[in-house]
Amino acid sequence: MKISVILAHPDKGSFNHALAEAAVSELTEMRHAVSFHDLYEERFEAILPAGEIPKGADLPPEVRAHCDEVAEADGIIIVHPNWWGQPPAILKGWVDRVMRPGVAYEFAEGDGGEGVPVGLLKAKAAIVFNTSNTAEAREREVFGEPLEAIWRSCIFDLCGVREFRRRMFGVVVTSTLDQRKAWLAEARGMVRECFGGLG
Ligand SMILES: Cc1cc2nc3c(=O)[nH]c(=O)nc-3n(C[C@H](O)[C@H](O)[C@H](O)COP(=O)(O)O)c2cc1C
Repeated sequence: MKISVILAHPDKGSFNHALAEAAVSELTEMRHAVSFHDLYEERFEAILPAGEIPKGADLPPEVRAHCDEVAEADGIIIVHPNWWGQPPAILKGWVDRVMRPGVAYEFAEGDGGEGVPVGLLKAKAAIVFNTSNTAEAREREVFGEPLEAIWRSCIFDLCGVREFRRRMFGVVVTSTLDQRKAWLAEARGMVRECFGGLG
C-alpha cells in the first residue's frame, strides 16, 4: 500500500525527525511503498497564490506532485510539533495548497460552496504525531486541544479519511532518553497497528 509521511520540523536533530524516521522504518519493514517528505528540506513554499484557489487551477509541478500523491495514498502520517496550538506555517501552507478542492474534497452538484463538502481522499487511515511542552491536562482544559479539532475534524474527516489516530508526545523538554525511546516504540506500535492490516 502507498503511505505518505509528511514531516514539518526545521531541526534534523529534533524528536520530530526521530518520530518520522521511526514511522518510515516501521512502514518499510511492513513492505509498504513509503513516500517521505521533509517539508523544510524540500523548502516547500507555504504561500497559496490567488491563482491556485479555484478548483481546476493550473498548479506548479511540485504542488501537482504532492496533490497526486496525497490523492493516491492509502494512508497518511503527519508529524509536527505543537507551535501555538497549530502546525508550523510550512505545514499549514502544505494543507492550503495540497488538500485542495477536486483533490481532497469537493462540493456536491448544485452546491455553490455553502454546503457540506464531500471528502475525496481514498486513504483509509491517518495518523498524526505531535510533540509539545504542555502537560496533557493543561492542553485539554486551558487550550481545548486545538490540534485534535484541526486534524480530526477540520481536515481528515472533511476529506473522507474515516480512521484517525493522533498522539501528542510530551512534555518533550523535560523528557529523559528512556522516555523518548519508549515514545518512539509507542509510535512504531501505532503505525503497525494502524497500517499492519493494509499491507
Ligand atoms: C514557535 C514555537 C511555538 C511553540 N508553541 C508551543 C505551544 O503552543 N505549546 C507547547 O506545548 N509547546 C510549544 N512549543 C514547544 C514545541 O512544541 C516543542 O519544542 C517541541 O514539541 C519539542 O519537540 P522537538 O524536540 O522535536 O522540537 C513551541 C515551540 C516553538 C519553536
